[in-house]
Amino acid sequence: MNDFHLCYQNYLDEFEKYLNQYVEKLKTKPEILGESMAYSLLGGGKRIRPVIMLACADVLSIPHEDVLPFALALEMIHTYSLIHDDLPAMDNDDFRRGKPSCHKAFGEANAILAGDALLNEAYSICFSQCAKGEQYVAAGKLLNEYAGAFGMIAGQSADILFTNQKNDVSEEELRFVYEHKTGKLLLAPVVIPNILAANRNYLSFEYFGKQLGLLFQMTDDILDVTGNFEELGKSIGKDENVNKLTCVRLYGLQNAKIRADLCAQECHAVLEGMDGDTEFLHQLVDFVLVRTK
Ligand code: IPE
Ligand code: IPE
Ligand code: MG
Ligand code: MG
Ligand code: MG
Repeated sequence: MNDFHLCYQNYLDEFEKYLNQYVEKLKTKPEILGESMAYSLLGGGKRIRPVIMLACADVLSIPHEDVLPFALALEMIHTYSLIHDDLPAMDNDDFRRGKPSCHKAFGEANAILAGDALLNEAYSICFSQCAKGEQYVAAGKLLNEYAGAFGMIAGQSADILFTNQKNDVSEEELRFVYEHKTGKLLLAPVVIPNILAANRNYLSFEYFGKQLGLLFQMTDDILDVTGNFEELGKSIGKDENVNKLTCVRLYGLQNAKIRADLCAQECHAVLEGMDGDTEFLHQLVDFVLVRTK
């Protein structure tokens, strides 16, 4: 394992430990609710959002314990978004994180409720931090904004609207989908540590987070064409089948790859100009660019 993978694994282990402590206490009535939440939360997923949050905390030299509750809340919101994204009414995907998706394992009604419960639990965790000070309140508010009607959900709504649309779709529409459905939840882990660190001047971080979000969804779209089920843990070729608005549909596979390269270069350029040790973030950009899962 090289330094990057070791460092990623350390962040991941730290997050998994924190997540497991939460799940152990998740005793619901009826039990099936907690079981369906735990099923989707555990045993898979790159945890890239929590890893980014911990890495940015290190760049800013703030303690991990400050960001971990928000990393957990974010991963729960992300997981809920995946459960709902996979539902037959949305992308109708049977597999997620290498297992049958939540609605395949527990039925549609339970999957909807597991997603609802994860979202509500995420905000309970945010509220539990509020007494620590105004930055903690602000961090929770930001997560709420980025996940909600003007954030991720807006992107999902646009994604559905543009799916199988007969009219020509534009670059502007693709950008809206990217910036919201994926971008916001990848920007959150970059911005939240800055808020907690009371750093008001985080424009470079913000620009980095936005570019990373674009890059992440470009590679997600590309992997839907070039990837394989074993590594991705989800079905491939789905986007073309249902005529999703993706960078591959808009630019073609080769040009989409060129654009992803350019976007990665943009990420590196902004990191160059930032203070602190950004080496891990540089490597993370390359990991996202060449990822196979
Ligand atoms: C998948 O996210 C959904 C998108 C926003 C593209 P990830 O690729 O981060 O999924 P997991 O968490 O690793 O399963
Ligand atoms: C999902 O985008 C984004 C969210 C869940 C918010 P996709 O629909 O492209 O993600 P996958 O490919 O199913 O993971
Ligand atoms: Mg989708
Ligand atoms: Mg999907
Ligand atoms: Mg996809």
